[in-house]
Amino acid sequence: MIGFIGTGNMGSAMIGGILKGGIYSPSDIIVSDASPEALERMKGDFPGIATSSDNKEIARKAEILVLAVKPHIYGPVLTEIGSLIPPTTITVTIAAGVTLEKMTAWLSDKHRIVRTMPNTPALVGEGMTALCPNGNVAAADLDRIRAIFSSFGKCEVLPESQINGFTSLCGSSPAWVFMMIEALADGAVLEGIPRAKAYPMAAQALLGSAKMVLETGKHPAELKDMVCSPGGTTIEAVSELESHGFRSALIEAVRVCTNKADFLSGD
Ligand SMILES: NC(=O)c1ccc[n+]([C@@H]2O[C@H](COP(=O)([O-])OP(=O)(O)OC[C@H]3O[C@@H](n4cnc5c(N)ncnc54)[C@H](OP(=O)(O)O)[C@@H]3O)[C@@H](O)[C@H]2O)c1
Repeated sequence: MIGFIGTGNMGSAMIGGILKGGIYSPSDIIVSDASPEALERMKGDFPGIATSSDNKEIARKAEILVLAVKPHIYGPVLTEIGSLIPPTTITVTIAAGVTLEKMTAWLSDKHRIVRTMPNTPALVGEGMTALCPNGNVAAADLDRIRAIFSSFGKCEVLPESQINGFTSLCGSSPAWVFMMIEALADGAVLEGIPRAKAYPMAAQALLGSAKMVLETGKHPAELKDMVCSPGGTTIEAVSELESHGFRSALIEAVRVCTNKADFLSGD
């Protein structure tokens, strides 16, 4: 049985993916939440799953336990249920700054823990998640966790030392991509394209470009070169972007974002 403590945006996105992917049936899922309204919503959205207002019940019953509450709620929740989680349970974290070391202090050095970092596109089934297992997680355990996160996107195992860089690259970058879509649409409006059409057009251009990287396996620079005909319009704009430090701005964005995450997690 898989249990979720917290059924907000991420908890419900994960449950939606798991059910859609057929990894668990509703009767194998149990959830708890501090909010009675959230539990009612879960019953309506996912008929057949078990709900409880008691986190302890989830801690006792779940073989895989997902802590889907905000980072500052981890302390109170683990103080409440930590002693009830068997070491054989695979405990999954999804919160920024909750390190394996902190989890070990709340549980024990015998517990199986997988620190993960999903991103917002998980809400539409296109997530990118990093998985950092501790030394007690066996290969078969990790396969089970991989199957869960693959049901709403892609996932990769990373050493925990790279999690803050990953969080910048995949957790924060959607904000920068949304800014890019907004700015491209402003440019289109300047050229007379109606705003309502400009946003989905810009988003589709980004989606298609991302798919080309994933599906052709070509280097992004090669794909860029394919669009730039000699003396053409695109290379004119590439030159303009370079003069404004476009690529360097993005490299710096990843760097400062990672530094800030290191600072906040006390690394
Ligand atoms: N949303 C994302 O795209 C995203 C991406 C990556 C990682 N994450 C991480 O995922 C975690 C969950 O985020 P979220 O956006 O899903 O949060 P959320 O929508 O606020 O959901 C959290 C749920 O947990 C409930 N809760 C609060 N205290 C509780 C307690 N003591 N016991 C049981 N349930 C409790 C909340 O109820 P109340 O509303 O009544 O407090 C709420 O229903 C966070 O750690 C976040 O950093 C989220």
